[in-house]
Amino acid sequence: MGTIKCIGILTSGGDAPGMNAAIRAVTRSAIYNGFRVKGIYRGYEGLITGEIKEFQTQNVSNIIQQGGTILKTARSKEFETPEGRKKAFETMQKEGIDALVVIGGDGSLTGARIFGEEFNIPCVGLPGTIDNDLFGTDTTIGYDTAMNTIIECVDKIRDTATSHDRLFFVEVMGRDAGFLALNSAIASGAEAAIIPEDRTDADQLEEFINRGFRKTKKSSIVIVAESPKDGGAMHYAERVKNEYPQYDVRVTILGHIQRGGRPSAHDRILASRLGCAAIEALMEGQRNVMIGIQNDKIVYVPFTKAVKNDKPIDRSLIRVLDELSI
Ligand code: F6P
Repeated sequence: MGTIKCIGILTSGGDAPGMNAAIRAVTRSAIYNGFRVKGIYRGYEGLITGEIKEFQTQNVSNIIQQGGTILKTARSKEFETPEGRKKAFETMQKEGIDALVVIGGDGSLTGARIFGEEFNIPCVGLPGTIDNDLFGTDTTIGYDTAMNTIIECVDKIRDTATSHDRLFFVEVMGRDAGFLALNSAIASGAEAAIIPEDRTDADQLEEFINRGFRKTKKSSIVIVAESPKDGGAMHYAERVKNEYPQYDVRVTILGHIQRGGRPSAHDRILASRLGCAAIEALMEGQRNVMIGIQNDKIVYVPFTKAVKNDKPIDRSLIRVLDELSI
C-alpha cells in the first residue's frame, strides 16, 4: 500500500457508550488532516458487503452524547474465514480505502490484526468495550459509563436489600473479566465481589459467608461477574438457598442495561483523545497497534499484546473491598 488518502472506520463486537464519540473524533481528525473518510456499517460485515458511505464532518454532528454506535455493529462469522477477508479486501480496493480504524474489543482487534497482516493494510484499533479487558490500556471506551450505570442500579437495589434485610446477588457483565464487578462493588459499597480472576481453589461464597458478613449488617449486596462456567448469580443464590436457608436471598441480572445510555464525560474525552491519536498514529506510519492510555498518556500497543495477554486485575482492589466491607 502506498500513501494513505482515504481512511475507513468501523465499530465491531458489542456496542459500548462512547463509540460514537470515537467515530466523531476519528472522522473529524482525519478530515482536519486532509484525509477522506468512509464509514463502514455493521462492522466487518459491511466491509464484506460494501455497506459503506463517505463521511463529511456533518455526518458525525450531534452524536458525541449518544450511546450505541451510528455505524451499527456486528460479530462477523464470515470475516473469520479467509474467503470473507478476501471479499473485504476487494471491497476496500473498490472503495479506495487505504487504511482502517477499528473500534472494538478483543475479537474485533484480533480480526484487524489478521486482516492487516494478510493484506498488508495499515490498521489501527481503538479499545471499545465495557469489559475493560484489553491489555496495555488503563481503561477502555465504555467502561466508565457502564460502571456508572451499574452503581446507579445497585444504589436502587440497596433500598430493597436494606428494607427487607436481604442478601442480593447482582450479576454484571464482563465476559471473562472481573473489572466491572470488582470496581462497581467498591463504588457501590457492596459487601463482596465474585470475579473470575479470583476463581482459585477457595470457594468465594464460603469465604464471604465465613467472614461473618452479618456481624454488623442485616443486608448485603454481592456483585457477581457473569460466568458461563459456574452459572453466575443464579448459581450462588441457589447455593445460599440450599446451604444457608436462613438468608432471604434475591438475584438481579443487570444485562444489557449496562451497555446502553449516554457516555460519561470520562468516556467522551477518552474516545476523543484516542480518536485523534489514531489518525496521528496512521500519519506516523504505525500499523497493527491499538491506541491505549496509560497514566493519562497515549500509548501504542501492538495488537498481539493487547488481545493475547490477559490483563491482570489489580489485587490491591480486592483488599480495599474486603477492608471496607466489614
Ligand atoms: O463484550 C461486551 C459484552 O457486553 C460482554 O460483557 C458480554 O459477555 C457480551 O458482550 C454480551 O454479548 P451480546 O450482546 O452479544 O449478548
